[in-house]
Amino acid sequence: MYMNFWYVAAEGRELTDKPMHLKMLGQDFVLFRDSKGAAHCLSNTCVHRGASLAHGKVKGDNIECPYHGWQFGGADGVCAKIPSLGKDGKIPARAKVDSYPVQEKYGLAFCFLGDLPEAERVPIMDIEEWNDPKWRFTTLAYDWRADWQRAMENSLDPAHTEFVHPSMGYQGGREDYNVPDLDVVEHAWGVGTMTKFVSPDLPHEKMKGLKGEGQMEAGSTTWGIGQSVTKLHFSPVTWAHQYTFTTPVDEHHIKRWFLQGRNFRTDEAMDAPVNERNMVVVDQDKQVVTRLEPFFTPASHVEEVMVKADAVIVRFREKLKGYEAQGWRIDVEKANALRENKAFAIPSPARRTNKGWALDPVPVFGPSAVAAQAAAE
Ligand code: FES
Ligand SMILES: [Fe+2]
Repeated sequence: MYMNFWYVAAEGRELTDKPMHLKMLGQDFVLFRDSKGAAHCLSNTCVHRGASLAHGKVKGDNIECPYHGWQFGGADGVCAKIPSLGKDGKIPARAKVDSYPVQEKYGLAFCFLGDLPEAERVPIMDIEEWNDPKWRFTTLAYDWRADWQRAMENSLDPAHTEFVHPSMGYQGGREDYNVPDLDVVEHAWGVGTMTKFVSPDLPHEKMKGLKGEGQMEAGSTTWGIGQSVTKLHFSPVTWAHQYTFTTPVDEHHIKRWFLQGRNFRTDEAMDAPVNERNMVVVDQDKQVVTRLEPFFTPASHVEEVMVKADAVIVRFREKLKGYEAQGWRIDVEKANALRENKAFAIPSPARRTNKGWALDPVPVFGPSAVAAQAAAE
């Protein structure tokens, strides 16, 4: 799991003035709306004596700890009130919790979990069709017990469709089946490819006749770490674009938001059958991805046998190595080994300028660890 990216925490409509407790990247957070409706995301551990802020109350623009009533500002995480000190008591400078930038877009609340200054952050993936009246969007959310990287590699994988999604392929039954050489396209923050598939008609009653000549073009591109877009071009003019936002809850669980835009059958009445069909496809992936061995993506490619159809996945892994070299990969094993003796926080941007934080930053793999691993391979 990697810090210093935008992650979806929840749908915007789920956030209210009641605190919401969430786990992301194995850490605990509290989310709430303040008196003006602005959404906030704070590290959940009260720095006084460790209570869960999400089990407290929202008081105006602050969150009040349920243990001794300390209040922390939603916007900056700075302690605004320590009741036991009385009205004029001096609040210690270390009385602050990490507060993370929040952006609401596409009906989702994104939190930037890391300390990078704004100018250096990978922006949230753009959904260019979002406001286009020729497109209609539906949103699904689902949870898997899976390694986030295994799930991303599944989204990117051009060779699985034929076998995992029977309604999109012939399950390898055609003599001439192969995955053509991939044209892997790399952009600053991701990799992807588009491939031509020979594909049968969609068997779903309401989807029949969508494809021209039994051929379609499809492919996926990643953005940042947990974001990707899958483009399904059933014909030169009939397209569905699926934007997925994956948040690792912890190393064993993901939550994913799946926003699909379609430029055909855009009437609202089609939303339910489209979602129903999408959930069938999601479940087909889930059946495979949640049963992979080992559970986590192997650390070295020599523990697998890769072929040319895996080229895009190899490039994605190279991107991850780059992020690890920046010191953004969380050392989960180390964090878990210390967890009962130590509360950690993902460092927030304020740590770049302010000193004096009670909680240690979550341990990460340093550039030196990356170099040592590369030397060993
Ligand atoms: S533990 Fe939060 S106020 Fe004491
Ligand atoms: Fe799939």
